[in-house]
Amino acid sequence: MKHWTLDQIAWDRFDPSKVDPEIVPLVKAAALVEKNGVDYAIYLNNVFGDDPDFRQAADNWAVEEVQHGDALGKWGELADPSWSFDDAFTRYRAGYKIDVKADASIRGSRTGELIARCMVETGTSSYYTALGESTEEPVLKQVCKLIAADEYRHFKLFYDHMKRYLAREKLSFPKRLRVAAGRIGESEDDELSFAYHCGNESADTPYSHERCVAGYMGRAMGFYRFRHIERGMGMVFKSIGLEPRGRLSDLAAKGAWRLLCWRRDRYRQALARAANENAPATRAAA
Ligand SMILES: [Fe+2]
Ligand SMILES: [Fe+2]
Repeated sequence: MKHWTLDQIAWDRFDPSKVDPEIVPLVKAAALVEKNGVDYAIYLNNVFGDDPDFRQAADNWAVEEVQHGDALGKWGELADPSWSFDDAFTRYRAGYKIDVKADASIRGSRTGELIARCMVETGTSSYYTALGESTEEPVLKQVCKLIAADEYRHFKLFYDHMKRYLAREKLSFPKRLRVAAGRIGESEDDELSFAYHCGNESADTPYSHERCVAGYMGRAMGFYRFRHIERGMGMVFKSIGLEPRGRLSDLAAKGAWRLLCWRRDRYRQALARAANENAPATRAAA
């Protein structure tokens, strides 16, 4: 059972005057990644082949992720009526594929797989909270609030199953830490930056990871506040079996915040450089 439907969103309250142009490309890219959730459900069904309870939970989870994509995609089309969510998604599907046929987790164990899922849900739950709090556009605010609540429930879902597997597999702390850190590091891989490309650049523009990761992260990282990182760090700590509200978690949150600010500024510099390089060409062409 889904917790909400697209019909519950007050689409008629959409207010174009309150749309922050910096948020639109992020919403378009996120819509594509969310909608692609079905592939992860196929992969999870393969990895957890003999666990019908988890398989059912993964199928329900994917239905919610797809709905996140549809809600964000619809908002993207309201904010930019020239944009087609369907066309962008077709391009994304054609160019970005995960290996769904795996018969074992790419994380080395089922506990590891579930820790990786917890990291993703920690990231999305913090991200939509941050976006929802910063936007003044009422429809996007409502959509982000609904999605953020789902993402937190998803975190709890994967966390509960992870505890069950941890009792059986007894994955060591260093291995849990490695999986968690590894998955967090992957947030700057192609999944999001290629979605940024398909959602925001024309089909004849060649894909560049460097340009698109800067386009995505340079904007996305600007919406976080320390409190989002602090809460997210608590969830990361909980996932790997550490005290979520302690001195170590505080220190880690402060370190992560500094790292985020530093990377955000570097991505922004890259964006500014790219804009400068393109400026003379644009003027010459005009
Ligand atoms: Fe989602
Ligand atoms: Fe989720």
